[in-house]
Amino acid sequence: MTTKTSNFGTSSREGHDSTDYYKRNMSTSFLDIVQLNSKSSHLTRAERIIPDHNDSWKNKIYNHSSEDMFEIPNNKIGVAFTSPPYNVGKDYDEDLSVEEYMELIHNVGREVYRVLKPGGRYIINIANLGRRPYIPLHAFFYQVHISLGFIPSGEIIWKKGNGANGSCAWGSWQSSKSPCIRDIHEYLLVFNKERVGRPDKGTSDISKEEFMKATLSIWDILPESAKRVGHPAPFPVDLCKRVIKLYSYQEDTILDPFAGAGSCPVAAKQLGRYYVGYDIVKEYCEIAKKRLGDVEWPPRKQSVQS
Ligand SMILES: C[S@@+](CC[C@H](N)C(=O)[O-])C[C@H]1O[C@@H](n2cnc3c(N)ncnc32)[C@H](O)[C@@H]1O
Repeated sequence: MTTKTSNFGTSSREGHDSTDYYKRNMSTSFLDIVQLNSKSSHLTRAERIIPDHNDSWKNKIYNHSSEDMFEIPNNKIGVAFTSPPYNVGKDYDEDLSVEEYMELIHNVGREVYRVLKPGGRYIINIANLGRRPYIPLHAFFYQVHISLGFIPSGEIIWKKGNGANGSCAWGSWQSSKSPCIRDIHEYLLVFNKERVGRPDKGTSDISKEEFMKATLSIWDILPESAKRVGHPAPFPVDLCKRVIKLYSYQEDTILDPFAGAGSCPVAAKQLGRYYVGYDIVKEYCEIAKKRLGDVEWPPRKQSVQS
């Protein structure tokens, strides 16, 4: 039996019919805004049609800015997953103003939109910054990507620990004078190009258990050691695998426009997908290539750990 949107909520949502909810003005007016933005930013991208000769651009790490991913033809990528530089003083960070920083994010987002397939996903890992003031970077990311025509389709809290990690940046101890919140999470913002579902067909390889876990909005995954990987802020490969398995088909190409030491391409290769990555630091590109060279091919059948 299917359920419907009701004043009193619904107990189970298997086969749930949400047509009435999505007919409401809140949803339709939001979609109108996104579609209008998508059309207007598409006009500027129309000049950027890159000839699609062959697949030779795949399975490469490129050492230049992802503000221009001229190697990739339009509409080719199933999933882009990335963690941009946070502009907080890491080795690779410039000291950009919020406007300059968001311009970089905008330029890269516009290119990601161009290369994604219709229904393709752009998943961005981002943390909010500081306390005095607290900079809600994720709010800026929503603004920029909605203005580019991306459709938001979910938000995941990546819980990186349980708070017992020795951080004592709690502000005024046991006093209301100036307590500080210690973040133990970051965000994964999920955006889609043109539509929320994939119009094309492909092979999914996610198990029942993995799917049940991955479709919950809080993910408990421990961070990766910077020292072990040789990069100041690497992704855990298991985080990438969970994203890739949930959001991509086996035949897809996975893009990381800020690839660093290549954790996302490594996860893509381990899962039998094609990959492509960009980073402006040569040394990180070399680490990524080395890690990719160590991945067994073809991959053994494996599942996501957590
Ligand atoms: C947070 S790190 C990504 C780390 C990566 N997820 C990993 O697992 O190693 C951000 C990366 O973006 C790179 N970067 C900064 N500006 C860039 C740009 N315009 N184009 C491409 N890469 C850039 C930095 O060099 C840095 O390695």
